[in-house]
Amino acid sequence: MDSSAAVAERRSRIARGWTLDRGAVLVASGLPLPIAGTDQFHEFHAHPEFRYLAGIAEPASVLAFDPAEGWALFVALPAFEDRIWTGDGPDIDRLEAAAGLPVQPIERLAGWLEARRGEPLAILGNRDVADRPAGYRLPPLDRLEAVLDDDLAARLSWHVSEARRAKDPAELAAMRRAAEASRAGHLLALRTARPGMTERGLQVELEAEFFRHGAHRTAYGSIVGTGPNGAILHFSPTRRELREGDLVLIDAGAEVDGYASDVTRTFPAGPRFEGIQRDLYQLVHVVQRAAIEEARPGVEYRDLHLRACERIAAGLVDLGILRGAPADLVEADAHALFFPHGLGHLLGLATHDAGGCLQGRSPSDRFGLKWLRADLPLQPGYVVTIEPGIYVIPAILDDPARRERYHDAVDWERVDALRGFGGIRIEDDILVTEGAPEVLTAALPSDIASIEALRSEAFAR
Ligand code: GLY
Ligand code: MN
Ligand code: MN
Repeated sequence: MDSSAAVAERRSRIARGWTLDRGAVLVASGLPLPIAGTDQFHEFHAHPEFRYLAGIAEPASVLAFDPAEGWALFVALPAFEDRIWTGDGPDIDRLEAAAGLPVQPIERLAGWLEARRGEPLAILGNRDVADRPAGYRLPPLDRLEAVLDDDLAARLSWHVSEARRAKDPAELAAMRRAAEASRAGHLLALRTARPGMTERGLQVELEAEFFRHGAHRTAYGSIVGTGPNGAILHFSPTRRELREGDLVLIDAGAEVDGYASDVTRTFPAGPRFEGIQRDLYQLVHVVQRAAIEEARPGVEYRDLHLRACERIAAGLVDLGILRGAPADLVEADAHALFFPHGLGHLLGLATHDAGGCLQGRSPSDRFGLKWLRADLPLQPGYVVTIEPGIYVIPAILDDPARRERYHDAVDWERVDALRGFGGIRIEDDILVTEGAPEVLTAALPSDIASIEALRSEAFAR
């Protein structure tokens, strides 16, 4: 199926599921955000609902629907000044081929809404179309007597999020290309990082390799943490130099056609993991492999997370860092002193893709569960990350109330000796299938022997 057929298929499936007998729907792509003090804009990210249903990613554009006439696509075409400053804009034939719909200029959207005056109107995608209608060449919506129906919008949007969970073949093709570009970038970092290189230098090399291998952009701000910085979950690279004995944590993903990959590897600054680095890396790796193996249809993601927590707790008991029965330690959130985040999340048009929690399920207040971003039974076609980690995070471990509460559960002397350790995370992107899970990022190894073989290449030059 070519991609415009896939997009048309999505639209008809969604429209059937909406079961609307009246009303109108706008799905807006969003307006570019200006950068203060320049006459440029932040990089534009089309709203995923628009991109999913329209198959294109143009700014200031709207996909409209009503149950009588179906879908219509309105796109902002460049004005005279835009053509001078930013170019002639997209080729209409290319847009129509990608969307599988005729493209109409955005100026016609006002007339489309005028013809539906007084109807309930649901706004999906970027809600800025209601707040900044002029950006879409619309008058204020109340002047069109549009009756905004937020409950209807929430119902329809929820339906789109649910439909977006299982990826279709066109989406999976983009995700495989993103995974391949990520593989290339991480592999280059593994093969070339040496003491003396900066986090920024590593980021630049890794991202350049993403782009050389087909990335359209990075899926999120690349995280490169060396030494203690590896313990900061979303660390932005600095000029800190990689030192002998450090661990390096790189969480970075390429994006292709709007689809994210999300990959983390942790490796030693030298050719080998040393001492406790090796033990903790092996533990995270075993926990990750077990969770991947268990990512099968019908399995609750929350249970995968809790089992990973228990395995981490058991491993930390074996290493003399925690004390007690693993199940009790997890019940008390003691594992979260070292593994505070969730096991992973849905992945797709967003790095943390929509629909991660079933309707009616909301994140727990528990410290060990509050950052779990997926809470649903897995189904074939879902793509999720599996990304356990173990960190030495001063903000958590230096907190007097926590030290008191977990006085007996933790060997604090051992933990304090790990100060500056940083963190370990291993993250892969998993396609749930009817059978064994498929690791989209499997071509990038993570076992100790392979990581050390790649690291030794960096020192053989
Ligand atoms: N890269 C962000 C995350 O792993 O969720
Ligand atoms: Mn990540
Ligand atoms: Mn992730």
